[in-house]
Amino acid sequence: MNFDSVAREDLPEILCRMPKAELHIHIEGSLEPELIFALAARNRVQLPYQTIQELRAAYAFTDLQSFLDIYYAGASVLQKEEDFYDLAWAYLQRAKAENIVHAEIFFDPQTHTARGIPFETVINGLDRAIRCGREELGLSASLLLCFLRHLSEDDAFAVLEEALPFRDKFIGVGLDSSERGNPPEKFAGVFARCREMGLRLVAHAGEEGSAEYIRSALDVLKVERIDHGVHCLDDPQLVARLVQQRIPLTVCPLSNVKLCVFPSLPAHNIGTLLAGGIAATLNSDDPAYFGGYLNRNYTATFEALPELGAKEAYQLARNSFQASFVEESIKDGWIRELDEFFEEQTHIR
Ligand code: ADE
Ligand code: ZN
Repeated sequence: MNFDSVAREDLPEILCRMPKAELHIHIEGSLEPELIFALAARNRVQLPYQTIQELRAAYAFTDLQSFLDIYYAGASVLQKEEDFYDLAWAYLQRAKAENIVHAEIFFDPQTHTARGIPFETVINGLDRAIRCGREELGLSASLLLCFLRHLSEDDAFAVLEEALPFRDKFIGVGLDSSERGNPPEKFAGVFARCREMGLRLVAHAGEEGSAEYIRSALDVLKVERIDHGVHCLDDPQLVARLVQQRIPLTVCPLSNVKLCVFPSLPAHNIGTLLAGGIAATLNSDDPAYFGGYLNRNYTATFEALPELGAKEAYQLARNSFQASFVEESIKDGWIRELDEFFEEQTHIR
């Protein structure tokens, strides 16, 4: 493919139209202010904000914790199965419009069970939306259950126990929430148990935390993908390992800027990660809070970084399929579609 034949001005449209997967999206992070107010009214929840504008104005984060405080508060309007369905359905429709053909979606059950919402209410609502997405939108999606790392490993074991009757409704587990001071090894036992159960394993590491957390996520938790992982560049030996073992990173540029992991998009290291041979992917993390869904992450990042062109667009989309947890034959089909899409773009001129 002659990627150089693609004009820079044509890139935004290509980025939006190309088929791709999203592998790092927290469903609670797609809860838009409009839906927060609608669900608050439906469930008679009193919000500490009078208007949508006032709520949006509070989305000025200084670090991960300042975001998490607001994110967990926002999730309190989710109470009934229907609410979880509406939340996931809104994301899936959005994903379809953005030419996402496959999504692996995080959910944080402990955020809800701690408020007395039964686990089954959460997972049944999300699962029903995913099944509708498959039938009505032709979109492939699956769930990853995230353990909250600021809570104890015993808490994680307890939620895993509650999840067992619904084992067929999620494909794997992740680890999220406050990273610093909550290293991967805190969850060694529960991840070992999940591994025995045949669940797929991922973990947030190297977002605010150091490269050492990426190492222990790999060595102790034995995860297959690293969520964020942008601090790997501090450790050249680790980078060599990520490249050699083809361990994917799910990178979220708009999130990183909003949470002050990087001062600006032009300062982001995604170009360096790709150039170094890392299997990086682009993702939205918590799009309702960070100023954009997946296509906005692509277009804003490519606009900010001149080293990213059509070749990197193709590479990122290809990586997203390759890094997904679906059968190889399905990945191959999506990659063929991607190839056809790019053949067309690069033959036009
Ligand atoms: N939960 C939701 N978004 C998160 C992020 N970016 N890091 C850690 N935990 C999260
Ligand atoms: Zn995340």
